[in-house]
Amino acid sequence: MSERLEEIAAAMVAEGKGILAADESSGTIKKRFDAINVESTAENRRDYRELLFRSTEAMSNCISGVILYDETIRQNAADGTPLVEVIKATGAIPGIKVDAGAKPLALYPGDTITEGLDGLRDRLAEYHRLGARFAKWRAVIDIDIAARVPSAVAIASNCHALARYAALCQEAGIVPIVEPEVLMDGGHDIDTCYEVTKAALTKLYAELFGARVLLEGTILKPNMVIAGKKSGRQSSPEEVAEKTLKLFRETVPVAVPGIAFLSGGQSDEEATANLNAMNAAGQQPWRLTFSYGRALQAAPQKAWAGMAENVAAAQAAFSHRARMNSLATLGQWRPDLEQAA
Ligand code: 13P
Repeated sequence: MSERLEEIAAAMVAEGKGILAADESSGTIKKRFDAINVESTAENRRDYRELLFRSTEAMSNCISGVILYDETIRQNAADGTPLVEVIKATGAIPGIKVDAGAKPLALYPGDTITEGLDGLRDRLAEYHRLGARFAKWRAVIDIDIAARVPSAVAIASNCHALARYAALCQEAGIVPIVEPEVLMDGGHDIDTCYEVTKAALTKLYAELFGARVLLEGTILKPNMVIAGKKSGRQSSPEEVAEKTLKLFRETVPVAVPGIAFLSGGQSDEEATANLNAMNAAGQQPWRLTFSYGRALQAAPQKAWAGMAENVAAAQAAFSHRARMNSLATLGQWRPDLEQAA
């Protein structure tokens, strides 16, 4: 595996592959486990994540990298092998979430600022020693037009933090995934999502440029341009693809090697169909792939339900979603392939 930032970034968006986001914080994984009636213990978290990483065929063919949480990058598999080594054996690259979460932005009710810059240089050096070759930092931008959210200050502060994070990553030999997530939780329409995402991406690339970040050694992890869940409208894959691609052509430099979408609360098939529609729209300047958490893991979590006898079924469910999304990166997914499985 190359140590050059450009080559690591290129490998993260290799043809037909995408990223498994398995970096749920302690609070988030507890929520996911609550939903399947599993206690969130270190052992259960290990067993669950190990079953994903040991889905060898899917990992080798469809997954370029895995985003880990601090606990997982230090954890061993049941047989004592470090989980990082289990991942590397499949050919995938270990990555690490390094932000400390989104906190309320002082004096701006409804806005958040992502924390975690203090001490980050030392943490990155340790994560590099532990095997991480890329990192993730998620800024959260909510939309509530009536409440004037997001404010320009929230967008500027978050993009500035993303740029400082990205520069520290590159100094440490780690590829930064920059994630300015415009949430799809609100009641806004698709054009409002377009405008807010445009403001965020415009500011983001100005900040990255100012921070001297090498764009060839970064990956963008954005939301798709899509109507808010509470709008009561579901955007069609064609509309999502058209508006998302138009926006990226306006805002994302071609020096960026790849764009790996978050799923953001879309259903499994919706996330796959939308990615597929973008890749079916023809050649783009960047690779367009997935960095899904929920849209890759909801099915295996349900199938596993905390029971050892369900491991094979959970691996089959994960492998299926990985394969469907791999096809979507090539524009070769079709709804009937879901039924066939
Ligand atoms: P979702 O795909 O569930 O949105 O998670 C991806 C992620 O890593 C968000 O930071």
